[in-house]
Amino acid sequence: MTTTEVSEQAQTSYPMARECPYSPPAELGRLQADEPITRARIWDGSTPWLLTRYADVRSVLADPRFSSDPYRDGYPTVAASRKIRQDRQRPSFIFMDDPDHARLRKMLIGEFTVRRIETLRPLIEQTVTELLDAMEAGPRETDLVQAFALPLPSLVICHLLGVPYADHAFFQEQSHALLDLTSGEEKVVAALDALQGYLDELAEAKRKNPTDDLISRLGARVNAGELEISEVSAMAFLLLVAGHETTANMIGLGTLTLLHHPDQAALVRDGDTATVRSAVEELLRVLTVTHVGRRRVALEDVEVDGTLIRAGEGVILAAEAANRDPEKYSHPDDLDITRGTNQHVAFGFGIHQCLGQPLARIELQIAYPALLQRFPDLRVTVPDSEIRFREEMAVYGVHELPVAF
Ligand code: HEM
Repeated sequence: MTTTEVSEQAQTSYPMARECPYSPPAELGRLQADEPITRARIWDGSTPWLLTRYADVRSVLADPRFSSDPYRDGYPTVAASRKIRQDRQRPSFIFMDDPDHARLRKMLIGEFTVRRIETLRPLIEQTVTELLDAMEAGPRETDLVQAFALPLPSLVICHLLGVPYADHAFFQEQSHALLDLTSGEEKVVAALDALQGYLDELAEAKRKNPTDDLISRLGARVNAGELEISEVSAMAFLLLVAGHETTANMIGLGTLTLLHHPDQAALVRDGDTATVRSAVEELLRVLTVTHVGRRRVALEDVEVDGTLIRAGEGVILAAEAANRDPEKYSHPDDLDITRGTNQHVAFGFGIHQCLGQPLARIELQIAYPALLQRFPDLRVTVPDSEIRFREEMAVYGVHELPVAF
C-alpha cells in the first residue's frame, strides 16, 4: 500500500475523547496492541503518524532525524489555536533543533541542576507552609486549585525568574488562553502579544537594572554580547508558561487521584522520602498531564520498527499511551506508588527532555505530603461528574477542585 493510500484510509482522529477522566482514551490502548504505528487524522485534515508504544515513542524522541521545528512542512500541530500561536510567536528553544536549541538550552542548564534547585527547598517549604496556613485560617471549604495548586508553582517560578508575583492574575490569564486548544484567533493573538510585550519590557528593565534572578542573569549575557534581548524574553516566556501550569495541574489532579486511593494517600502522608519520590513518579506516569502527545517531523526517511516514515512526514508520539504500555509496565492502569523508578516519558525524552523537571519534582515531593499531613481529613466535596476536567487544554488536570477539610 502506498503512503497516500494509507493516509486516505486513516480512520482514527487525534486527539480522541476520554471515556474516563483518569485514563487516556481507550482507543489509544487498542492501537497500541493492534496498530502501534498508524496514521491519524488531525484538525487540519492531515494524517501524521501516531505512535503509541513506549519503545517507539522513546526511540523517535531520541532520534535527531526527527525535528521539533513547527515551521517545517509536515509538522503536526495539535489544534488550530496552536498553529496561530506558532505562526506569530517568537520561537523558543523547545521548538528548535540543535545546534540552535543546544546553544540556548546550555545557557539555562546551570539554573536547573538538581543541586541548584535544591537551594530553593527552604523557599518552597516556606511557601507551602504559608499557603496551608492561609487555607487553615479561611473557610473549611475551598477550591484547592486557587488556594494551593496554582499559587505554589506560580510563586516559585516568579521568584526564580524575577517576575513580580503581583502580576500573577495577568500572566495566569494569558497562559490559560494560550493553553486552551479551543481559543480563537483573536484570543490567542491578544494573549500572545500581551504576555510577550510584558516580558520584553521586564527583560529590558532587568538588563539595565539587574537584580538577583534568572532574567537578570540572562540580561548580563546580552550585555556581554552572548544573547539577543529578544531571546531572553522568549526564554522567559517559555519558562513562565511551562513552569507553572504543568506543576499546578499535577498538584490538582494528583491530589484528586490520591483522594480516590485512600490507602495510597496514607502512604504518601506518612511515607519516607523514597516512598514520596516514588509516588511522584507514579503520578507523573499515570496522569501524563501533557496529554496530547509530543510532535516531530521526519528530516529524512527513517524506518521505525519496520514502518517507513518518509522525510517531511509528521509524527505524534503519544506519551500518554506510552506511559501505560503493558510491555513496559505490569498492570499499567493501576496506580501503584511503590513502583519505584519507572522511567516514564511524562517529561519527554531526548534533547528536549523537560529542563524544569528537578524543580517540578521537588515542588511535588514537598506539596503532596505537606497537604495530606496538614489536613488528614481532606476530601472532595463533589462527585467526579461535577468536576470540570481540562480535556480542551494542552495541559490536562482540573479547572477547580472543591475540597473540605
Ligand atoms: C520540556 C513536561 C514542568 C520547563 C518539557 C517536555 C515535557 C514537559 C513533556 C518535552 C517537550 C518536547 O519534547 O517537545 C513537564 C511536566 C511538568 C513540567 C509534566 C510538571 C510536572 C516544568 C517546569 C519548567 C519546565 C517547572 C520550568 C521551570 C521546560 C522547558 C522545556 C520543557 C524549558 C523545553 C526543553 C527543551 O526543549 O530543551 N516539559 N514540564 N517544565 N519543560 Fe517541562
